[in-house]
Amino acid sequence: WWDHVAPAAKDPINGVTEAFLADPSPFKINLGVGAYRDDKGRPVVLQCVREAEAKIAGSEFLESISASVSTKMVEESVKLVYGKDSDVVKEGRSAGVQALSGTGACRLFAEFQRRFHPESHIYFPDPTWSKYVCSSSFGFLQVLVQFFQVVKCLSDNEIDVQISIFSVIEVQSCVLYSHHNIWRDAQIPERTYHYYDPDSKSLDFAALMDDIKNAPDSSFFLFHPSAHNPTGVDPTEEQWREISYQFKVKGHFPFFDMAYQGFASGDLDKDAQAIRIFLEDEHLIGCAQSYAKSMGLYGHRVGCLSILCVDSKQAAAIRSQIQQIARAMYGSPPVHGILLVETILSDPNLKSLWIDEVKIMADRIQRKRTTLRQNLEKLGSSLNWEHITNQLGMFCFSGLTPYQVDRLAKEFHIYMTQDGRISMAGVTTGNVNYLANAIHEVTRS
Ligand code: LMR
Repeated sequence: WWDHVAPAAKDPINGVTEAFLADPSPFKINLGVGAYRDDKGRPVVLQCVREAEAKIAGSEFLESISASVSTKMVEESVKLVYGKDSDVVKEGRSAGVQALSGTGACRLFAEFQRRFHPESHIYFPDPTWSKYVCSSSFGFLQVLVQFFQVVKCLSDNEIDVQISIFSVIEVQSCVLYSHHNIWRDAQIPERTYHYYDPDSKSLDFAALMDDIKNAPDSSFFLFHPSAHNPTGVDPTEEQWREISYQFKVKGHFPFFDMAYQGFASGDLDKDAQAIRIFLEDEHLIGCAQSYAKSMGLYGHRVGCLSILCVDSKQAAAIRSQIQQIARAMYGSPPVHGILLVETILSDPNLKSLWIDEVKIMADRIQRKRTTLRQNLEKLGSSLNWEHITNQLGMFCFSGLTPYQVDRLAKEFHIYMTQDGRISMAGVTTGNVNYLANAIHEVTRS
């Protein structure tokens, strides 16, 4: 029955964690998964979560949670996205459902899109969460470089040129995951829009706007509203306004994947600014929310999908359709995480404790950006590292090539995804010097 089944390629992010765990070195550093860690590199249980745990003790043994608990969780989640005083909230115009974290919310939306717009496409930013550079063929390219070295006696500089040419080839032959897989499995064809310019290490806004203008009217676009994964590059407020305006002109549908609310600025409302701009311009919007990082509930898979509607009647119809999709996929979600989130968001003291803790996490990451950049500059690196502090949120899109990433793992026991994405949460006071030295070593010419 199953002889024809070949093993699937490793997930690019989980694969990094596996390689890290298998490495016995005491110096090893995991900069792969984008989940928060404290300054000792340990996963964190937020104080608001501990207090919510104490409050709900025992209730998770109920066979299922009451509809009012999950309704409350969804209502509070929707307020976080659109604003607690927004008309959308007051008029009940959002079709919100609990989802299995951000991934589950995206998957539900993709399925909903296929059912009700079967001919549509989805536009992703290039890059988006996430891309895997195929290491086996990269190994082959390294062998090829060594061959050139022996046969043609290339100088070190020439070899570097060869390597970077191969790296470019490699990036073009990458395997795509996460957003790509989610919509592919829902049979929605994907397209990409320009987003990141590797030369300036910033947003290619002109090209992005051209792609929005050139897309067929009424296209679906996915945006990261803040703390873009993997680049850490977000449009400015003014640029979001221009994007929103152009969306009105073209009648496009914006779907926001908000996995890192609070991590860009330390302020939950500010990080929802892009969505609020689209709201002011009266767009109908879709949004996936995750509490995996902002509440440190990665293992609990708690999230929310919301779709804005013209009125509460449409919202009820859309909600019932999404609930039907979820029922056929996984029945109902586990209750414990939903209870935790609902308890935190509906208790003013716990909510304000959470808001403070989000700021503490965002500030620690920001400080580590500064220290890493300063250390590289102190080492006399001839490269420009300004982007480490210009980029926002959990990730630094370092610009390291797959070859350099490979060297960091093999020679220094430092693990990150092959696209050079550094999860800044993994950078600590204890490892930042070692990390800067290693990066300097693999990037010096
Ligand atoms: C990441 O990009 O590292 C996070 O979103 C975690 C995940 O599940 O991929």
